[in-house]
Amino acid sequence: MKVTAVSLSPDPFLLTSASSESTRAPFPRGRGACPSAPTAAADVLEEFKPAVVSFHFGLPAPELLERVRRWGAKILSSATTVDEALWLEARGVDAVIAQGLEAGGHRGNFLSEDLNTQVGTFALVPQIVRAVKIPVIAAGGIADAKGVAAAMALGAAGVQIGTAYMLCAEATTSAVHRAALKSDAARVTALTNLFTGRPARGIVNRLMREIGPMSPAAPAFPLATAAIASLRVKAESLGSGEFSPLWAGQNASGCKEVSADLLTIELAGALEDAR
Ligand SMILES: Cc1cc2nc3c(=O)[nH]c(=O)nc-3n(C[C@H](O)[C@H](O)[C@H](O)COP(=O)(O)O)c2cc1C
Repeated sequence: MKVTAVSLSPDPFLLTSASSESTRAPFPRGRGACPSAPTAAADVLEEFKPAVVSFHFGLPAPELLERVRRWGAKILSSATTVDEALWLEARGVDAVIAQGLEAGGHRGNFLSEDLNTQVGTFALVPQIVRAVKIPVIAAGGIADAKGVAAAMALGAAGVQIGTAYMLCAEATTSAVHRAALKSDAARVTALTNLFTGRPARGIVNRLMREIGPMSPAAPAFPLATAAIASLRVKAESLGSGEFSPLWAGQNASGCKEVSADLLTIELAGALEDAR
């Protein structure tokens, strides 16, 4: 098996980051933290030596980052503000992902937890492009070839797209999640901490409506996931996604039930035309 790119979403690193570079982040650490998790994750990855390793929520501890670098991987990480982009550049990342507020899934913010000051993609990308010297990858709300071309016109060196791929054959999107993405409900998303303990964007459902999408009652990341599990499993067994995290960005209009390679060719179409 050839692994070319890996996205390390926070869990293995953040949970144990007592010495992490992301300790400036004010988020609570999970009480269930396993001290050996970051090293164990690196042990597994090192066998495959992926060419690209992408982090979310800042960066792991410097010695761990150095280990990833030593096996030759290019290192990416998400920035949701100009300050975060500068912070990442100062620590030597090879490229920064400018994650706008529209993006589906977890917010990558790590220097501030104030969601009110988070920035939309088309405001964020040009500001980060101006501020840093490394390549900038635009993410959030990009759903078709015109969106890709527009992000590139703003100075992005590439784009990162999540939501549009979620109906692709290769995606492990659950049946209730697929149904929600195909419905009108997908037009209404919100940031919620109910499902994991950290803010993430998903389609609004009953749990979010009844408790309120952001609640101080949610257990700290990632304990909220276990807290909601029984309810979620029961509801899903009845065909309901009302208690499930239905991650999606603000623009689900690009979701298509085609193979991921076909969708990628389509998304890159405008770039080919522009040449
Ligand atoms: C279901 C889902 C899961 C995601 N998981 C991760 C992840 O594990 N690591 C990560 O860095 N970003 C993750 N993201 C964020 C995407 O990489 C990307 O920033 C985002 O999807 C771009 O915005 P869009 O959803 O509007 O295309 C996820 C997004 C979605 C929708």
